[in-house]
This record gives sequence, C-alpha cells and structure tokens, in this order.
Amino acid sequence: MAKTNNFSFCSLLPFLCFVGFLFIPAKAAVKSYQFDIQVKNVSRLCHSKPIVTVNGLFPGPTIYAREGDTLLVNVTNHAQYNMSIHWHGLKQYRNGWADGPAYITQCPIKTGSSYTYNMTITGQRGTLWWHAHIFWLRATVYGAIVILPKQGTGFPFPQPYREANLILGEWWNNDVEEVVKQGNRLGLPPNMSDAHTINGKPGPLFPCSEKHTFAVEVEQGKTYLLRIINAALNDELFFAIAGHNLTVVEVDAVYTKPFTSQAILIAPGQTTNVLVQANQVPSRYFMAARPFMDAPLSIDNKTATAILQYKGIPNSVLPVLSQLPALNDTAFALSYNGKLRSLNTAKYPAIVPLKVDRQLFYTIGLGINQCTTCLNGTQLTASLNNITFVMPQVGLLQAHYFNTKGVFSTDFPDGPPTPFNYTGAPLTANLGTKLGTRLSKIAFNSTVELVLQDTNLLTVESHPFHLHGYNFFIVGTGVGNFDPKKDRAKFNLMDPPERNTVGVPTGGWAAIRFRADNPGVWFMHCHLELHTSWGLKTAFVVENGKGSDQSVLPPPKDLPPC
Ligand code: C2O
Repeated sequence: MAKTNNFSFCSLLPFLCFVGFLFIPAKAAVKSYQFDIQVKNVSRLCHSKPIVTVNGLFPGPTIYAREGDTLLVNVTNHAQYNMSIHWHGLKQYRNGWADGPAYITQCPIKTGSSYTYNMTITGQRGTLWWHAHIFWLRATVYGAIVILPKQGTGFPFPQPYREANLILGEWWNNDVEEVVKQGNRLGLPPNMSDAHTINGKPGPLFPCSEKHTFAVEVEQGKTYLLRIINAALNDELFFAIAGHNLTVVEVDAVYTKPFTSQAILIAPGQTTNVLVQANQVPSRYFMAARPFMDAPLSIDNKTATAILQYKGIPNSVLPVLSQLPALNDTAFALSYNGKLRSLNTAKYPAIVPLKVDRQLFYTIGLGINQCTTCLNGTQLTASLNNITFVMPQVGLLQAHYFNTKGVFSTDFPDGPPTPFNYTGAPLTANLGTKLGTRLSKIAFNSTVELVLQDTNLLTVESHPFHLHGYNFFIVGTGVGNFDPKKDRAKFNLMDPPERNTVGVPTGGWAAIRFRADNPGVWFMHCHLELHTSWGLKTAFVVENGKGSDQSVLPPPKDLPPC
C-alpha cells in the first residue's frame, strides 16, 4: 500500500514498505536483523529534540516473519541509556532469555554492548510489536512485528488487496526521561504527552504538521488490511476512519470472529487487525485516534490524525472529518469489548481451560505514600493485593535458573489481605501496602484462573494488564465487584477472546484463564507506563515440567551481565 503524502516515509523509500513481503522466503527460515540503538534529532509540533531510536527510525523498523521462522535480532547499544527490547506477545517457549523486560528476564544492554535476541515463532501469526522495556524509553523505541501465516496458508478472511501498519503513540515536546524525573521529584504523575501520533506523526490538527502527516493511498473498490498497534504509554485509544466501517478480524495475533464497527478501542499493548473497504466517494478521509477515559482523571485528550486517500485525489482536497466515540463513552467501550470472540474453528481452535487448578484474585490499587525526598512530602504508588513491586538489581530469570537466594520470594498472595467493598465509595485509607519483590509460583502445565479486580482506592480506572510468555482467554468481564458464584456461571468458555493484554474495566473486573505450559519467569503488569513505574506489577515463576523439553533453556552466552 503506497502512501501518497509527499513527505511520508513510504513515498520517500517505497521499497522499505514492501521489502518484507517481496523477500520473505517460502520455507521457515532464519531471519537476521540489526538494531542499532541511536540518539537522533527529531522534530514534531515545532519542537526538535534528540530521541532514542532503533536505526535512526521513528517508529522503528518493522520485523517481518512467517510462522515457524527463527528471528535473530542483534541489538547494539550506541546510546548513553541502558536498553532492553521486549517482543510484545511473542510466547518465547522455554526461552524467557529473549523476552526482554529489564531486571525480569535480563540485565540491560549497556552502552557499547550487544545482545542477540534468538526467538522462534511457534503457533502464532498476526500483528505483534516490539518496544524498549526499561523505564519510559518505549516512548520512542517501538515498532511492528508482522507474522505472516505459513507459506500456502491464507488468512481465514478474504485476502486483502494491500495492507499497512498504523502504530499509535504519544509524543512529548520535552525529553521523556526528564519529564519522568520531574514527576518523581514532585511525587506526582509526570506531565501528560503533548500529542498523540499515528506512525510517529501527529497530523494536521497540530502545528508544524505539514511534514508530519501519515497517509495511505487506496483504490476504489479494493479491500485493505490495517494492522493497528497501541504503543502509547498511558492512553487507551479509540480509532476510526471517516465514512468507513472497520471489520475486526484479529486481536493480539489471534483471529477473531469478524464483526463490523464504526470505531475500535485499543489499549496500550494491544493490536487489532481490521479490514477496510474503499467503498466511499473518492476523496480524502481522516483516520483518527483519541483517548478513552471514563474515570475522573485528566489526560492528553488531543486527537491524532492520518489520511486515507483515494487514488487520484490531490492533497489539496480537505479531508472528511471522522466521528469518534466521546472521550468517556463507557457504553461503547463495554459493548465493543463484548463483541470480541475467538474465531474458534477446527484450524484455529480456542482451547479454553475448562477445569481450573489454581484460582487467583488480584486487587488493583492506587495509593499515596509518605515520601521524604519528594517536594510534596507524599508520592503516588500502586499495588496488586496491597503489594507494591520492587524492581530487583539482577534479572529474576537468572536468579531463578541459578537458584540465587535473596533476590525474590515466591509468597505473592493468591488474594488480598482482607476483602472489602472494592468498587464502593472512593477509599483513601491506607490499607497497609507493603513493598516487595514477591512472585507467585505456578506448577508446570497447571491451569490458572486470575481475576483482576479494579478498586476505588483513590480512584477507579481502566487498567490494561499484560502477561508475558502467554496468551490467555478473557472468559469474563464485568462492572462492580466480582461475584464468584454469579459471574463464574456466566463465563464464556466456548469462544472467548484470546489475547496477551486485557483491559480491566473501570471499577470492574476481568477473569482470564491460561495453561501454565511455558516454564520461566513471566512479568505481568499494567501496560500504562505510569502505573508500572508506581509498582503495579508482579511476575509468575512457572516451574519446569518433568519432560526433556519442558524446562527453561540454558541462557545464551551473550546474555548481558548485571
Ligand atoms: Cu509490552 Cu511488559 O510489555
């Protein structure tokens, strides 16, 4: 799909937009990529600043592969920041060494050092993405992963004419790491972003955007596949195209039962593939992304736009405006997520655990702590089951593999210390939150049900929870307090959506199930970077199985030292 905008990346270097498809060999193959972490000056919204990039690109390069391929990505760090890269949604069977979260599965790649992520793509096809997984550096260090089906296997939906990636992001005019430091000094959330972006570009609703508008050219009558990724740090987003319906066919690299919607909702960490028919009067149409926020919190509510441009229509034509759901449209959000279903065919079955070996119930809480070094004397914090996760100094996976004592404990509780009315009136009480690097130990191949319960500690809010190393089934969601009897009876165990990131509804709950068949240490956290940095995270230690192919692989020789 060519991009018509005179200044778009693809029109300057069109071969880069299709190179992956043209050169993808037929059989499962080893594909090598070089990622050079470099600082580069980039300007947006009339501000120029140095940002951390991969190969000087923003967004970074797209990784193209086929199901079954092995990817070797050599990351060389030329920047003055420590770095690690996470391959969000890749399952990394027995191979957490290639997962990437700093201090969880590896120590960071230091300035001047390299590390090769060695990953084999098994049983997955669709859209995923990669991003920096250390502090807030993912603000500019991210890109798409496109996994095509095996050669000779088509999509389970009509073959689109062309396709394009749309990565939604956030832009700060100031250095993001500085913005965060300043927030920490005050004990407050860092300043919100200055713009949202589509493929790194905010679009014409922002100043100085002539060069910073992304466009895709379409031909009347043809169908296109858009691979949409939410790489924003802190905002759930609505996305829509003026005058065009979107048919959702895949989320988080799992096929769905197709359904049509005027807009989609996508949380940080999630991906959504949609089909779009270019069936309107040839013109220019806005594609737009803007947050969804139904809690009483202030956020960057600005709209990023890009352009869907019919072939032959000049750039001088004013684009048709798009209609997005209102910022706080809870009803749309709940109904949209309610429509998601796994495809669940013989070829792509939804293998939902019907029997549960281990039941977990985690409460999501925000809070205020005393802070002697903060200007206000207090600081915001977050916890799961009243535990604020403390990042270790060495990688947890190494500590687990080499049985190093004193790095973490495996006593993370299966429920909160005391039950309370989680979603009643706002609670400001200090519930005795504790600090700790506490993990939960899970038996190999056991089936786990985890209910994530939002609370009104300080405020209710929607939290996108991401589990590394696994997909899970979202068997139920609801508003209010989870009622084990009533709500479990209503679980969808037939064709629930299978994802790696679930949006826990504001003041509600989400129940997920998965089979713990991937041994290792797997991070689980809120994908709002703000909340992760406040401690809204933990990890599962999934034990080795007895079989010869059921234990964590030995670490690679070039694993970065601490
Ligand atoms: Cu995309 Cu641990 O994150």
